[in-house]
Amino acid sequence: MNLKKAAAEKAVEFIESGMVVGLGTGSTAAFAVEKIGELIKAGKLNNIKGIPSSVQTEMLAKQAGIPLTNFDKDPVIDLTIDGADEVDENLNLIKGGGGALLREKVLAQASKINIIIVDESKISKRLGEKWAAPIEVIRFASAVEERFLQSLGAKTELRADEKCRIVVTDENNWIIDANFGALENPDELARSLENRAGIVEHGLFIGLAHKVIVASESGIKILEK
Ligand code: A5P
Repeated sequence: MNLKKAAAEKAVEFIESGMVVGLGTGSTAAFAVEKIGELIKAGKLNNIKGIPSSVQTEMLAKQAGIPLTNFDKDPVIDLTIDGADEVDENLNLIKGGGGALLREKVLAQASKINIIIVDESKISKRLGEKWAAPIEVIRFASAVEERFLQSLGAKTELRADEKCRIVVTDENNWIIDANFGALENPDELARSLENRAGIVEHGLFIGLAHKVIVASESGIKILEK
């Protein structure tokens, strides 16, 4: 079986009828959305309400037949299932490869439980070994914040698509991918990013994951704090 699918299907086992479920973004989370839809159709999960973390996931959830809600009606999520780009040994994450980091972090902070689903290629000793940190900035400040990130030692790139068009997030911002290399202290970096007015959010998810489900050829492992 596809490893991303295997991790996603394991995570869906933690969903119970009646839950408000946070729906992550990306190719791994998409398998979870599909599986939740199948279980609803089969009558095995009832009264599920989903909150999607992106426009893309909202479309997938509608196609899968998952009833949707929002924070005005349901401000607390029971369980969110989402992917990640990189996971370190303390279960800190880099997220935002798909550009949905801002809404994903809102979901994570509103969730009682966050389950992260990955294949083993996403596991690192230290965050930043494999992936740049996505930084969502307001357009007005992008040049200023890019200089700031460079002053912290990052190699930066304003995210663009394959046709060289600047990527615009669901919240109408831009993303700077900031490559710091392996991070000594992700927590400290997160705090300095949070001090900047032009940075809306960053893709360092510190202390938010409760469980990480890792699928490999040899089976599934559940990492917990
Ligand atoms: C979306 O913005 C991201 O945070 C994704 O969760 C992350 O990029 C993982 O994506 P894949 O599951 O497609 O690898």
